[in-house]
Amino acid sequence: MKNILIAFLVLCALNAHCQRAASFKPGQLWLDNNGVHINAHGGGLLNYKNTYYWFGEHKIEGKKGNTAQVGVHCYSSKDLYNWKDEGISLKVDDDPKSEITKGCILERPKVVYNKKTRQFVMWFHLERLGYGYGYASSGIAVSDKVTGPYRYLKSVRPNQEQWPINVKDINKNPVDPKVLETKYPGDNLFGDADSVNILGRDFKKGQMARDMTIFVDSDGKAYHIFSSEENSTIHISELSEDYLSYTGKYARAFVGRFMEAPAVFKKDSKYYFIGSGCTSWNPNAARSAVADNIFGPWTEMGNPCIGPDSALTFHSQSTYILPIAGKENSFIFMADRWVPENAIDGRYIWLPLKLEDNRIVIKWLDEWDLSSFKKK
Ligand code: GAL
Repeated sequence: MKNILIAFLVLCALNAHCQRAASFKPGQLWLDNNGVHINAHGGGLLNYKNTYYWFGEHKIEGKKGNTAQVGVHCYSSKDLYNWKDEGISLKVDDDPKSEITKGCILERPKVVYNKKTRQFVMWFHLERLGYGYGYASSGIAVSDKVTGPYRYLKSVRPNQEQWPINVKDINKNPVDPKVLETKYPGDNLFGDADSVNILGRDFKKGQMARDMTIFVDSDGKAYHIFSSEENSTIHISELSEDYLSYTGKYARAFVGRFMEAPAVFKKDSKYYFIGSGCTSWNPNAARSAVADNIFGPWTEMGNPCIGPDSALTFHSQSTYILPIAGKENSFIFMADRWVPENAIDGRYIWLPLKLEDNRIVIKWLDEWDLSSFKKK
């Protein structure tokens, strides 16, 4: 009897093992350890103690799912193919007065580990309930444990009363916001960003921040990189040592280029950037750029995607770029294929990213695995 039981258990273990994923299948349903499609959109990855943690927006069914009804979902994995559900790491609040009350817009969460404070710090794009996308701020939450629960700290509009380090040519005098509002109402700004001086308009209350990422450099300094000035211009903003506020040092990049969905990585002392154009949930052609210094100047290198559907980033929009530990010239380009009418059905597009003659190259693959990357 005992032997039969042991044989049965071995068979079960083998069966479970065989069902484990051993490849990426971009755009297909991606099941977690409970057999449920992974729910971590607009996400980012953290590699901590030989485990990967994936944080992203938990979406629900229907159009309502585009707003934050639940919070930030966390998954863990050792191999990047198989993901264990670690639950909701930051919950939206039931209190209607809370800045992260249910129904707010909470997008593109990114978690980084601060070695000095030994805290995990989560940043995200936050729009308070009832403001549409007009609030344009960033939320910060912290936890002592990687999977959470994260404690919401505050929202910020970056760099109040600070000018960027590379503002030389534009009129530094803030323009009367009322004049600007009548000339260029909100998102409809499609003009020369400098001539309308949105930077000046927001000088006192802090700059706008929507689509964002956090990049930690090899020296431990972290940067908040986000779409600002009515999405017309990217800001790259240095964070304080504890990653909870700004040092006030920041630069503008891609002025007037209307870029969203920023993702940044570094290789051999060069910084690389991928972003998108601004077409809401609809895909457009990705853009890439390179710089010797995180603050720029950045040189654009065009669309890094190659082949069919590359003009629509394979029907997706960038969210993060993951360097693969122990492999050479090996990065994963992570993007979202949004399904705004049924948000929970959004798919993940993960593709190998390589540098060829210092240019970023991303090609579509129906299925692939990490063996395509060479060991270091
Ligand atoms: C996209 C952006 C998403 C979300 C969406 C809303 O361009 O990247 O994060 O904000 O617009 O329309």
